[in-house]
Amino acid sequence: EQRESDLRERARRVATEAARATGPPLRELHGQTESIEYKTDKSDIVTEADYKAENIITTVIESEFPDHGIRSEETVQRTGASEYTWSIDPLDGTGNFAHGNPNYSVSIALLEDDDPVVGVVYAPETDEMFSAIRGEGATLDGKPLSTTDRTSLDECMLLSGYDPDGTFLSHSYHEARGVRRLGSAALNLCYLAAGSADAVWEYDTYPWDVNAGLVVARAAGATVTNAAGDPYDPNGPIDARNELLGSNGPLHETLLAHLQDAETLQPSASSATD
Ligand code: IPD
Ligand code: CA
Ligand code: CA
Ligand code: CA
Repeated sequence: EQRESDLRERARRVATEAARATGPPLRELHGQTESIEYKTDKSDIVTEADYKAENIITTVIESEFPDHGIRSEETVQRTGASEYTWSIDPLDGTGNFAHGNPNYSVSIALLEDDDPVVGVVYAPETDEMFSAIRGEGATLDGKPLSTTDRTSLDECMLLSGYDPDGTFLSHSYHEARGVRRLGSAALNLCYLAAGSADAVWEYDTYPWDVNAGLVVARAAGATVTNAAGDPYDPNGPIDARNELLGSNGPLHETLLAHLQDAETLQPSASSATD
């Protein structure tokens, strides 16, 4: 028990230091399009900065926790000897980053038997550090966070991720005060935690996009499920985790009903790109 909670505390501290260490090089490289490489298509890109941040973070984690596994987006994947694995997105929002938009982040989570228990999300341009340990509350730069308690969509600000069929947007544009598509899934979940957004929709994400933000959002009081309303499992089977709905709680049933409604109206698959 005590050892487990000491490990989580230490993991949060180490992840926070590793995330902060990516700040100077990321701010330095921000907005440089020269090093863009294509992974699959025009929107699926990686830059020199992604690799640099990944190297900084994984070097710190490997030296502090040599028996832990690592699943990081770009190049570092290894199985560990223990039940602990790190899920890392060294740069979430690479498109924004490369184009000089400040909305990007670094996302680091510790999984215990595939369950995210520690989450750290850092936004280098604003120097904001979000973090949480499951069951213990979330903070932004040490200050406690909590979700909103709004119940009426017409007073709400919603965040959307990739939404090719307009599943989330179809109702939200008409019924909410505002809908924004900012570009970093990890930060979207932290904004839900901080109360600057009342709900978040993400589609087609990878585990490293959402593991850390999920710990932060839930620790701040958010409800996060898939479109069927089951608790969101970021490391479960793809069918069950492809759609993510996070909310402050009171809005959840309404938003779920909207999603189900939109899915019956628009069952088509789209070829739109992210
Ligand atoms: C992307 C961002 C984006 C989300 C995409 C992700 P990347 O991550 O989180 O907001 O809509 O699904 O792939 O590739 O910039 O790390
Ligand atoms: Ca990517
Ligand atoms: Ca990502
Ligand atoms: Ca990334």
